[in-house]
Amino acid sequence: MLFALLLPTAHAQQQYFDVPFVPTPYVVIEEMLRLAKVTPQDYVMDLGSGDGRVLITATKRYGATGMGVDLDGDLVAQSLASAAEAGVAERVTFLQQDLFKTDLSRATVITMYLLPGVMMRLQPRLLDLKPGTRLVSHDFHLGDWKPDVTTQIRKNTFLWIVPAKVAGPWQIKAALPGDQQDIELELRQRYQEVDGHGKFGGRHAQIWESRLSGDQLSFVMVDDRDRENEAALYFEGRVNGDVIEGRVRRGTGNAQTVHAWRAVRPTGK
Ligand SMILES: C[S@@+](CC[C@H](N)C(=O)[O-])C[C@H]1O[C@@H](n2cnc3c(N)ncnc32)[C@H](O)[C@@H]1O
Repeated sequence: MLFALLLPTAHAQQQYFDVPFVPTPYVVIEEMLRLAKVTPQDYVMDLGSGDGRVLITATKRYGATGMGVDLDGDLVAQSLASAAEAGVAERVTFLQQDLFKTDLSRATVITMYLLPGVMMRLQPRLLDLKPGTRLVSHDFHLGDWKPDVTTQIRKNTFLWIVPAKVAGPWQIKAALPGDQQDIELELRQRYQEVDGHGKFGGRHAQIWESRLSGDQLSFVMVDDRDRENEAALYFEGRVNGDVIEGRVRRGTGNAQTVHAWRAVRPTGK
């Protein structure tokens, strides 16, 4: 009978916590914060913050501010006490809160030691965060979203940098030698992996070596308007919603020239 009475409570507890409390070892915390390149400008959020150790380290060692959320009220109380003891209570806060109901928009860095199913449920929200937000995870992946960096020091640590959304058509104006050039660009994107093609001088143009890291996009096209004087065009730019702006280097070494470029999404598409 006693067993029968206890069973629903134990079951409810199991339902309630998506992940059990297992603290991240300090060397792994150091590696997570190193990978994320945490600075005093960062606002770090630890999702399922346990005894608060990740955030207290981020605040104490790296000067960051931040917030941890955990469903377990005892762990939240313990975290608040540890933050006070470490002298960082002003810069870090811990809330008893469900990570799935937490507004993540303020975070510049998110740390996680969760479980695969929880990571997968979080994935769409993480992908929608501000481009450039760094996500670090102890041990667990974000499904088919490949990490930007993986390291292993006793445990696996993964870093993802939330990519800007660049898929689709763009119209580039580039102040290249000779004349201002209108270039059409069509980008395909899978998370931070980007490729595509363009139209340059009325002809099909391949895009090479494309990279996207947060809001920083780079790719190469070949300027073949004059077959006797071909050169690679190294585009670098910052994506800001429907605009990309940056510079393009034409050629290399002492033959290199640098020019401004700007791309917008065509209206009506
Ligand atoms: C594996 S521990 C990680 C603790 C800490 N982040 C660390 O790395 O040391 C996971 C934590 O997530 C908390 N947790 C589980 N489900 C949660 C949820 N839905 N919302 C907030 N916290 C949750 C657990 O109480 C536990 O403390």
